[in-house]
Amino acid sequence: MAPAVLKTVADVKDWTAGLRREGHRLALVPTMGFLHEGHLSLIREGRRRADVVAVSIFVNPTQFGPREDLSRYPRDYEGDVAKCISAGAQVIFAPAGPEVMYPQGYQTYVEVTDVSQGLCGARRPGHFRGVATVVTKLLTLFRPEVALFGEKDYQQLQVIRALNQDLHLGADIVGMPTVREPDGLAMSSRNAYLSPEERQRALALSRGLKAAQALLREGTRESEPLVAAVRRELEAAGLREDYVELVDAERLTPLASVAPGQPARLLVAAFSGTTRLIDNMQLGGEENAGRV
Ligand code: PAF
Repeated sequence: MAPAVLKTVADVKDWTAGLRREGHRLALVPTMGFLHEGHLSLIREGRRRADVVAVSIFVNPTQFGPREDLSRYPRDYEGDVAKCISAGAQVIFAPAGPEVMYPQGYQTYVEVTDVSQGLCGARRPGHFRGVATVVTKLLTLFRPEVALFGEKDYQQLQVIRALNQDLHLGADIVGMPTVREPDGLAMSSRNAYLSPEERQRALALSRGLKAAQALLREGTRESEPLVAAVRRELEAAGLREDYVELVDAERLTPLASVAPGQPARLLVAAFSGTTRLIDNMQLGGEENAGRV
């Protein structure tokens, strides 16, 4: 059955009012479209956790820097609708343009201070302010019981957890494991930019994380050799590193080593050609939880 398509803020308000009257439980999956298996895993999990799933499809201009890929960000609205239906979403929110979310005179932004600081936050000024703003708007508009996000954007997930808690938004924020291609590449809408050769070289990110995971299993706990294992793979593939960092899995502060029982996360960002890719895995805590 074709899902209902909401185009305006008024549509969302009407639709959610009906939903509340009927006592439904709502899961929201915010996306920027060009959906892949990673997004579909969020929709399917949403169906397990709620009886109604809404997907938002909005390429959010405020999270792109002036020299980033806003104008060429991949779009496939018809394909996305078909995928939403196949994964079980009942409602799609697809604002007709940026002015639906940011009308003339718009001036309110959300800033998450601490977890936005390092990693992608340091390299993409304003990015998490844009993400935090649009996600806050979506959570306050839809008031979902559950909202689902991929762990591939790990820092984003921590930013969203913080704003949900600090602003008392009350959603259950669910982070879902990164979905990978059979050869290990983390699924991302931006993989569409890669030439076959760049895609082959991009495998260095997941290969490096796997190498670090193997080192940890053998007993290496210091950040330096774990980070070096990822760097070696990036260099061998000729990728330009943006960062490789071992951080506390919750606060995202740098760690000198993986302490037993303390969840840590190893994050990498690198360029294959001109395409910036990110990936990460859990190290420590549950030692095997971040299997790549
Ligand atoms: O992860 C994304 O696709 C976006 O950053 C999000 C969370 C939909 C906000 O625009």
